[in-house]
Amino acid sequence: MGKTYNIGVMGGDGTGPEVTLEAIKVLNVASEKFGFKVNYTDYDFGGERYMKTGETLPDSAIEEFKKQDAILLGAIGHPDVKPGILEKGILLKARFALDQYINLRPVKLYPNVYTPLKDKTEEDIDFVVIRENTEDLYSGTGGFTHKGTDMEVAVQSSIYTRKGVDRALRFAFDYAKKRNAKKTWKGLSDKDKKDGKLGQLTLVGKTNVLTFIYDLWERAFNEMGDSEYKDIKRDYNHVDACCMWMVKNPEWYDVIVTGNMFGDIITDLGAMVQGGMGIAAGGNINPEGVSMFEPIGGSAPKYTGQNVINPMAAISSAQMMMDILGEEKASIKMEDAVKKTCKEMKSQAAGRMGMGTKEVGDLVAKYCIE
Ligand code: IPM
Ligand code: MN
Repeated sequence: MGKTYNIGVMGGDGTGPEVTLEAIKVLNVASEKFGFKVNYTDYDFGGERYMKTGETLPDSAIEEFKKQDAILLGAIGHPDVKPGILEKGILLKARFALDQYINLRPVKLYPNVYTPLKDKTEEDIDFVVIRENTEDLYSGTGGFTHKGTDMEVAVQSSIYTRKGVDRALRFAFDYAKKRNAKKTWKGLSDKDKKDGKLGQLTLVGKTNVLTFIYDLWERAFNEMGDSEYKDIKRDYNHVDACCMWMVKNPEWYDVIVTGNMFGDIITDLGAMVQGGMGIAAGGNINPEGVSMFEPIGGSAPKYTGQNVINPMAAISSAQMMMDILGEEKASIKMEDAVKKTCKEMKSQAAGRMGMGTKEVGDLVAKYCIE
């Protein structure tokens, strides 16, 4: 008998619960096939509960989350709640309290999925963004003085610690190494190969303007690379240039590592490049603790309850979860099933998939059993 995994499920707002159900459908099938068990504990945190009780994500829930093997999240964000309350009170609180210091966001074009990039194929669009997930402008450092007057000052500081940078870099270097153990990335030159390079890690920053924080990143990046990861080729892009290259030459990227704010922005661009929010998955990872997996897209309130939202990103998030939990075979099978299902879908856009939310889940589940 295989392992048993305890998964906390937070469907959240809007279409979140619907897509999460499809992810669970697929997980159940995969667990049966690969001989592990999944126990689910449901949590109803989100906009509705906040409006009824004023509660976002209480400390007691964090303590319960800590006892789970992982958390599966649908979406957070409600049209009747002021922006920031649920995002900070639930999503960011969970990321910070569980110290999920990595946000792992693969950008991978699946078969038959439309990319707005002309002449780019599955071969070209296959990279991973590793976003630092607990520091930067997200740390909440700052405030107002003279609020509401014409003297008002608003400050929000981007903070980085050496420890925070180092642990994100280490994860990224290790990830690049693991990803390229079989030399999968096609972008290495003959010289790189002769020099024994396996893959590439690109630091995305802004060293020409943010001369403190990205100076720290760059020094740490080079020090760690020189001393411990000689087999990984290092590259550097300013974040604005990265936006340009990601559209023009996505094949230049293997693994990207960047700060929280830049990572937030470039992964929305990445999501579009890989076919839209309907298919973009992410994982908030604490490699030593409890991780939380979520589709990158939001709660899409206008599509709620209509069986039209695309559950693929949620299913792929569950697939990432199984990979991180160590069920590699199940994860490979799930990804394979996702690819096969993509081939049968008309589009990855909500309402235009040529089938409903549940039917997408059914198909992935079917291909998981085969
Ligand atoms: C994301 C989201 C969140 C973020 C918001 C909802 C707080 O945009 O996961 O990328 O900025 O991290
Ligand atoms: Mn975002």
